[in-house]
This record gives sequence, structure tokens and C-alpha cells, in this order.
Amino acid sequence: MLAHLRNLSKLALPRRLVTQSASYSSSSTSFLIDQPEYSFLKELGLERDNPGVYSGQWQGRGPSITSYDPGTGQPIATVRQGNVQELDQTIGLAVEAYKQWRQVPAPVRGEIVRQIGDELRKYKEPLGKLVSLEVGKIYSEGQGEVQEFIDICDYAVGLSRIYSGQLINSERADHSILEAWRPLGVVGVISAYNFPNAVFGWNAAIALTTGNSVLWKGAPSTPLVSVATTKIVADVLRRNNLPPVVSLCQGGTDVGQTLVADKRVNLVSFTGSCQTGRDVGVEVQRRFGKVILELGGNNALIIDESANVKMALDAALFGCIGTSGQRCTTTRRIIVHEKLHDQFVKALVGKYKQLIPKIGHQLEAQTLVGPVHTQQNVENYKTAIEEAKSLGGTVAFGGKVIQRDGFYVEPTVITGLAHDASVVHRETFAPIVYILKVKNVDQAIEWNNEVEQGLSSAIFTEDIGQAFKWIGARGSDCGIVNINTTTNGAEIGGAFGGEKATGGGRESGSDAWKQYCKRATITVNHSGELACAQGVVFNVE
Ligand code: UN1
Repeated sequence: MLAHLRNLSKLALPRRLVTQSASYSSSSTSFLIDQPEYSFLKELGLERDNPGVYSGQWQGRGPSITSYDPGTGQPIATVRQGNVQELDQTIGLAVEAYKQWRQVPAPVRGEIVRQIGDELRKYKEPLGKLVSLEVGKIYSEGQGEVQEFIDICDYAVGLSRIYSGQLINSERADHSILEAWRPLGVVGVISAYNFPNAVFGWNAAIALTTGNSVLWKGAPSTPLVSVATTKIVADVLRRNNLPPVVSLCQGGTDVGQTLVADKRVNLVSFTGSCQTGRDVGVEVQRRFGKVILELGGNNALIIDESANVKMALDAALFGCIGTSGQRCTTTRRIIVHEKLHDQFVKALVGKYKQLIPKIGHQLEAQTLVGPVHTQQNVENYKTAIEEAKSLGGTVAFGGKVIQRDGFYVEPTVITGLAHDASVVHRETFAPIVYILKVKNVDQAIEWNNEVEQGLSSAIFTEDIGQAFKWIGARGSDCGIVNINTTTNGAEIGGAFGGEKATGGGRESGSDAWKQYCKRATITVNHSGELACAQGVVFNVE
């Protein structure tokens, strides 16, 4: 490796951070990790009981947490979370790691990210399977999630050689204004259960490339993905003799709150609910830290009179039911032109019926609809359906909890509600869609924009005038404004995020990398004489 990296090998980690395992889970053999068909978990280096803190060494002195398969309700394995003291030490080490890392040339940092991407390629199959198992998403979606991480690594490698500042014309003779982008320091990433791998990846690949160290706290209910992913990254760091430029501290609310409040964490990238996101935003702002918020969505699919209905139906199916309705980009409202409404509902219900035999365990080959993540999601589903009915909605399809082990609900279509009914305006993380009948595109845009959230949106239209209205200043007010494709499943190349209560943050591609940097404006006087700007004269003989 290059000289810079060799120098980094001299960094020793304090011994005090190396602890013995605190407590092991019971010797019951009912854990999935002990069963032969789950041997892929061992390929990822997981054990029955896993330390959930990494900062150069693995440890975990906080409460132990059991991870469950939402498809059966069975325990997979356990993770010993971190406590607040361990978080404190981990932040300290992340600061030290950053001080070394910022001196490594950006393309060399990119080379490390390239190796992380290569390592993820090797482990894509078992890691994607773990994502499926722990979240409840189907096999191809678990694989797709790891693919997003691989893709953003490729993106970041290229970025490492091309991201740059600029030279701005000065109003003063023989002066130049430069603009440079410098790393912020420690980037804290708090990710959600529904994308436990990719969201960390988007943040980490870009934050590392731009010279930051990354401290991750994954969702408490997907700790095994956090541990397995960190093991893959840690191996790359170890092989290159790097300090812990990526660290992990799994934990509960106390760990999360401490991370958010700690001044040494220069940027907090938070994915989660609007309510928690607001608290995170205020807390980070209180200490003048930076924040990226990726919060809820209430995403609408608009079907214009001219739409290619066949394509729109396919988009609705994946948009509403993919990931069992638990993407922040899931289609939650379909706003259909009145001329097409009845036929659209009928055709969509026909498609939903065909999915019934495809509801099943997330790792079974024929499954298209897996479980929701927890019992809480089932409760929220029931509450939303009761509320929709009480407000006069008609359940056109589904509406019931499926009685089997695990957390299964029927994908549900509800019609006949007012566009501004309380339940329609609320994001319920479950496969429920509300279909609304609309007069024209103008009214559809109004309804699209009247909700608090502003993440994703899509129109199906063959009318170029309507399409451009939709993407124009009078159009959708969301961060993602699609035409003739789904609201969900964004690629990594664009900036990902949304407006209003979605939080305003942008991650992943485009120029989202700028959020992981501080901007330095540099005026250089190469005239040999001091001159004030704006013609100000200020001198004495
Ligand atoms: C999320 O649900 O938090 O656009 C992220 C999508 C995925 C990412 C979703 N690429 O649906």
C-alpha cells in the first residue's frame, strides 16, 4: 500500500478498549444460527452471541439484545450492545482516526472504498440473505440492498479523483478566490431497520472518500446486519493497517441520544421517523452541528388520463407492496384520473389477488410479499385500517392480519376516502395504499403536495405538457419527482432525500458529497500590495 497508509499502521489502539465477553445468551439450541440451513450466518463471521461495538477491537458491555426472524418469530442470534461509556471511547477513537485519515490523499481513500466494494461483492449473497432474514424483505430485495452499497462504493471511487473546488474571479487586481472542500471530522450515522445496510453504505462511502471518519449506530432490531457489515469493512481497514475510520456502537435510546448530543460528532446523518428526526435536528442544531435528515414519506403515484395503464399497474404493485410497504419511498397514495379510476382499482385488485400465493417467508424462492418487521408494524396496520373504515373508506382488497407464525398482513387497497383524511395524511409503515379519484392533473398536484412529508412522487402520463408541469415549479414539491416509473427503488446516482417534514437532507449521488464537507473560501492576494474590496480605503501613512 502507499506510503501514507504504511504510516498509519503505527497507530496503536488503547488496550483498555479490549474487554472480555460480558455475558453469553442461554445455551438453548433454538437459535437459527445453530441450524445447518443458516450456515451463511457463520460465513459472515457471526456467532450465537456477538459483540455490538467496534472501534478497532470488538466489545459490548451494554444490554444484550436478541434479533428475531420476522418471518417465523424465531430468534436468530444475540448482540451485546454498547453502553454510553463505550460510545464515549468510540467517539474519541473516531476523532483520532479522522486526524490520520484526513491526511491521506482522496484517491488513496477512494482505493480503500474500492476494496470495501470488492469485499461486499464477495459477501453479497450471504449478507443479502441476512438483510432479508433480519428485516423480512424478500431475497432479491436483500441482494438489491447490498448492491446499492456496492454501487455507491464504485461511485465514491470515481468521486475521489474528481471532486473539487473552483477558482472564482476576484474584483481586485492580482487576487484570486479559491473554493476548497474539506472533511468535517466524525460523521455519525443512525440508520433504520428497513435499509440496515444500504443507508449506512451511502453515508459511509461518501463520508470516507471526502476524508471523514464514520461512527455507525444501526437500528436496535437489525443488529446482526450492523455487525456483519462492520466486520466486512473492518477487515479491509485491518489489511491496510488503518485506524478505525469506521466504527460501530449498537445501542438503545441512551446511546443514540448521547451520540446526537456529542459535540465531537460533526455531522449526524439520521434516517427514521419525522418525530424523532425533529428532536435529532433540534438537538444537533443546539450545538451548531450539521445534520442530514432522511425522514418519513407519504408518496403519491398520479395516474393521468393519458397514462400507459399497464405500466402504471406494475409500478403500483411494486411501489405499494415491495418490501411489504416498508420503504420510505413506498407508494402510499394513488391519485387516479376519474375516467380511469374504477377500471384501475379493478385491475389493481386483480393483480393483488395473484399475489396471495406469493405471500410467505422472505427467504422462500417464490415469495414476493414477506412479513412486516415487528408486531408493532402489525398493530399500526390494524389501527390504520380501522381508522380508514371509520372514516368511510372501503377495503377493496385485504385488510386482515394473516394468522401464522411471524408478522404477516394482507396487502391492502382502500378506496373512497377523502384526499385529506387523517389516515391518508399519515405514514403507516405497512402495505396499505389509499386510492383517490381526481378531476385533473392540477388537482392531483395539489393533493400530492398537501401532505406534510415531501420525499417521493411519480406521475404516469403520455402528455408532455403535463409531464413538464409536474417537474416544474408548480409541480411536485418532493425531492424525488418521477415520470412513468415507481416512487420507490431510486438509483444511487441521484441525490436521495426529500423536502418539508422529510427533513431536507440529501444522500447518495449527485453533489450530496458536499454535505459531508466544509467549504473553505480562500482569497489569495498575489499583488504585493494590500487592497480592500468594495473600493474601501483604510490606511494611514
Ligand atoms: C429507505 O426506505 O429508507 O429508493 C431507503 C428506494 C431505495 C432506498 C430506500 N433505494 O426505495
